[in-house]
Amino acid sequence: MKPNKNNEIYSDEERKSSPSFQELLSRETIFSDLNALSPHFVPDILPHREEHITTIMKHIAPAIKGMRPNNLFIYGKSGTGKTCSVKKVIRKFNELEKNKSKIEYVNCRAYNSRYRIIQRIVQKTNPEVVRGGFGLTYLYEKLISILNEGENIIIVLDEIDMVKDLDDVLYTLTRLNDETDKGAVSLIGVSNRTDFKKNLEEGSMSSLNETEIVFTPYNAEQIKNILKQRIKLAFAEGVVDESAINLTSAITSSENGDARYALKLLARAGHTAEEKGLKKITDVEVKIARKNVEEEIIKETISTLPDHQQLALYGIARVSIIGSKYRKLGETEGFFFSGEIYEEYVNACNQFGRKPRSGRWHQEYLGDLESLGMITMIYSGKGIRGHTKLIKIGYSPEVVIKVIEKNFKLGLVQDSGDE
Ligand SMILES: Nc1ncnc2c1ncn2[C@@H]1O[C@H](COP(=O)(O)OP(=O)(O)OP(=O)(O)O)[C@@H](O)[C@H]1O
Ligand SMILES: [Mg+2]
Repeated sequence: MKPNKNNEIYSDEERKSSPSFQELLSRETIFSDLNALSPHFVPDILPHREEHITTIMKHIAPAIKGMRPNNLFIYGKSGTGKTCSVKKVIRKFNELEKNKSKIEYVNCRAYNSRYRIIQRIVQKTNPEVVRGGFGLTYLYEKLISILNEGENIIIVLDEIDMVKDLDDVLYTLTRLNDETDKGAVSLIGVSNRTDFKKNLEEGSMSSLNETEIVFTPYNAEQIKNILKQRIKLAFAEGVVDESAINLTSAITSSENGDARYALKLLARAGHTAEEKGLKKITDVEVKIARKNVEEEIIKETISTLPDHQQLALYGIARVSIIGSKYRKLGETEGFFFSGEIYEEYVNACNQFGRKPRSGRWHQEYLGDLESLGMITMIYSGKGIRGHTKLIKIGYSPEVVIKVIEKNFKLGLVQDSGDE
């Protein structure tokens, strides 16, 4: 049957078409600026972090006159404002007209090896090196020549614990200062793992000679202030009820004191209210949002992983659901042997059409997952099948399975590219 001009063959229900753009834009919304809730938004003032920002500024201020500041390390759990504080300092530093130093920000989640970090820094200061293919030695010498021209560089290594060959990175970057006559390099390392230095070699530790700043998790009152500032920017007046603010900050402070989580919860509660056609966001919407946010966070974190890391995680989730074949002793509830997890990883590779990699690679993937806080690893004592690693998943295995299956089905997974 051919549809006639008046679409008579469609029922009323079927004829409900999508709205026009004008119609969409004219709809009332409770948001005034959604961008203010985005994870990349850095507000002009960061409540409860201005003192930390001042400390960082004082520390690097001598660089403006061409002196070399000591290395600095910033620690603190996830969502305690490390990245946004550093970004604010960088912004202020770059606003200066007269400045004898440069500051370069490197996110080590994306640039996670000595080669990639050095390449990134050289590229930023020398745009002609944009294309790849240069060897490490060439890039290193390039960096020395940049410094010899009198350039001082402060390198910010955010999420520094994600670097695979951190000892080499620290050694190479600190050694630069012995090889130049004029310019100098100093480092600002940022990490959400307070224990990450444990894995460093003695030599790297002592070459660091750094100052430390710790960012503590926000308490309920602090989260409330952070939220109130964003609410002014992101929502029309009077939209967010006091009960929503109170519940969001109570949940956040009792769980982790993570401002990112609080902002997500609020944004989600806003969308829930809007979907229901409400003019106000109350604690009821926050409760609904809480369930969704957990899942969203898991999804986002997993989806940034390359294929084999996702497959390794899938294997752990599978074992967590099926249960262990072996008997374990004592307090190892929820932990599984790395051997059986490897078997399920191989199954997962076959299921999703990837070639399984060796046990050694698998160990690497487990290390990556552990760094991201997705799994916990412990070593079993002697007696339980010799010395072996025991692994526990940090998220709901059902959600993990759902997310990874979807990622592969939709072809959204990037290649690990290691081998
Ligand atoms: N004091 C603050 N005032 C306003 N917003 C904040 C504050 N602290 C954190 N935020 C917001 O919370 C989110 C998380 O902050 P940020 O990215 O700086 O955390 P982080 O400590 O770097 O966490 P991670 O260790 O996971 O990288 C960002 O959207 C940031 O804008
Ligand atoms: Mg950060």
